[in-house]
Amino acid sequence: MSCVSKVAVVGAGAVGTAIAYAAQIRGTCRELALFDLNAAKVRAEVLDLNHGLQFTPMARITGSDDLEVCAGADVVVITAGAKQDPGQTRLDLAAANVAMCRELVPELVRLAPGALLLVVTNPVDVVTYAALEFSGLPPHRVFGSGTVLDSSRLRFLIAEHTRVAVQNVHAYIAGEHGDSEVPLWSTATIGGVPVTDWEGNGVRTLDEEVRTRIHHQVVSSAYEIIAGKGATSLAIGLAVSRVLEAVLDDEHRVLPVTSRLDDVHGLADVCLSMPSVVGRNGIESVLATPLSDDELEALTSSAAAVTAVARSLGL
Ligand code: LAC
Repeated sequence: MSCVSKVAVVGAGAVGTAIAYAAQIRGTCRELALFDLNAAKVRAEVLDLNHGLQFTPMARITGSDDLEVCAGADVVVITAGAKQDPGQTRLDLAAANVAMCRELVPELVRLAPGALLLVVTNPVDVVTYAALEFSGLPPHRVFGSGTVLDSSRLRFLIAEHTRVAVQNVHAYIAGEHGDSEVPLWSTATIGGVPVTDWEGNGVRTLDEEVRTRIHHQVVSSAYEIIAGKGATSLAIGLAVSRVLEAVLDDEHRVLPVTSRLDDVHGLADVCLSMPSVVGRNGIESVLATPLSDDELEALTSSAAAVTAVARSLGL
């Protein structure tokens, strides 16, 4: 990792610019480079970001419609590709975005041979699997944002329901970043108290009905936001910025990113999210977080759904 951390963001759409903006505000890296095929758009976004530098930690922010702008990056964040239309599932985007990846990834590896690839483009599990295959890199260096955002949505909803600070809710979503994702209720805690035992006024307030409702709210979050504003952006921007900090600061932080599993709960050769230790080398380890029988069954189904789409595209 160079002494000046450079992050390249491929795609200056709503998600890519939100990632750049979050990274600027949080001082995630010292150099930010944006690429987009639309020269006017990427120039405008970079101007707008630079005009705020007086108010944020210092960074060198550049952009271009020439992929060379990504040269020498420590991490390349891939956000380019088709995005969900209202009502469209993430898996519906697979063919187009895998095809985009096939062209893009080898070029990115040539320009930034030492970089980690952090995939955000949906369906992020399938596209991460494709990016790993097209890159020729070892699995620990190619991973995706996975269910980091879904887990944040889950924690927010639990926090709202229990009137506890989000930061004190420890809960993960595993599996596909999508309709088959799996809330790991059996290991979710607040201050060490299992959420299933959490009481309010002497009553267990997170019963199965409430947990089912919260799960549905997490799964439907993106659809609701897309219907209202065309795309999700702000929270995924913050989520990816957090993953970048775990890498650039070598934090060994546990985050539910998606990577190619190698016999985790019997699952292999599929990209799914499980709590993983993330540091300067990317994925340092994937945790075999204990699962209830129902959670294992749901995770296995999620793996099957993602695998079916990947195999249908020849991956
Ligand atoms: C979402 C997009 C990032 O869940 O898939 O908001």
